Amino acid sequence: MDHYAVIGNPIGHSKSPQIHSLFARQTGQDLVYEAILAPPDDFAGTVRRLVAQGYRGFSITVPFKHEAFDLADRLSERARRAGAVNTLKVEPEGLYGDNTDGVGLVNALRAVPGATLAGARILLLGAGGAVRGVLAPLLAEHPESLHIANRTAEKAAALARDFADLGPVSGGGLEGLAGRHFDLVINGTAAGLNDQVPDLPDGLLTPGGGCCDMMYGDTPTAFVRWGQSQGAGWTRDGLGMLVEQAAEAFALWRDCRPDTGPVMTALRPDS
Ligand code: ATR
Repeated sequence: MDHYAVIGNPIGHSKSPQIHSLFARQTGQDLVYEAILAPPDDFAGTVRRLVAQGYRGFSITVPFKHEAFDLADRLSERARRAGAVNTLKVEPEGLYGDNTDGVGLVNALRAVPGATLAGARILLLGAGGAVRGVLAPLLAEHPESLHIANRTAEKAAALARDFADLGPVSGGGLEGLAGRHFDLVINGTAAGLNDQVPDLPDGLLTPGGGCCDMMYGDTPTAFVRWGQSQGAGWTRDGLGMLVEQAAEAFALWRDCRPDTGPVMTALRPDS
């Protein structure tokens, strides 16, 4: 039986084992998927030991996505652009590093009835690793514009410069948002870890516009609650992105694509 694992620190609350077990059962794949805690200073050693034991692939989560990028022998173009790896595949010639976070977000958004990315004015909040990871796949959907707004304006501007070759992307501070309007607002800041939202002006959303958080929780996240308070046409938290990025990793490892709908329903029966 083939072995896979998610590696992170902390790892106790990861939903990935449940998600991949549901994928395996649904597709009839014979595999074991577990959660492994790596010491903060021994990610590479942990991966090497698991590879020696015969593990076939890994999901990588906080705080190891950059180390996984450095450890990979070969990288996908989207991982190179993201500067981070969330999926490793053990191949005969070494470790292949991919990043499925961005395509996971795009696929989760595509599943929202009425949401369209092509031609949309998108606002992306934050300018850290989470946002860098999704920029290329979002720009590939041909939005009318993609604006990155961050508490520290210069980080957003620098990120926009890095991706300017891929589409109409701009960047600036949160204070520059007053009076602007967007069809879709995506939260990629870490403010939700403290149940907060970035400091945003009212009236950002166009009528029927959507809000998507990259974080998820058992109760509505602070950003989802903000969207509801702003009269959003729809809101989603990051659970769909989590399931979709996992499906993309599963497809890379097993050459077989699971159906994510039933897995979303199993994880959140009332959605
Ligand atoms: P990640 O890898 O999860 O993206 P990160 O690289 O530390 O984490 O980035 C965190 C992001 O959340 C940053 O954009 C940060 O803004 P700054 O660049 O100004 O630090 C943003 N952030 C964190 N807490 C925030 C808060 N309370 N309000 C607004 N933005 C916040």
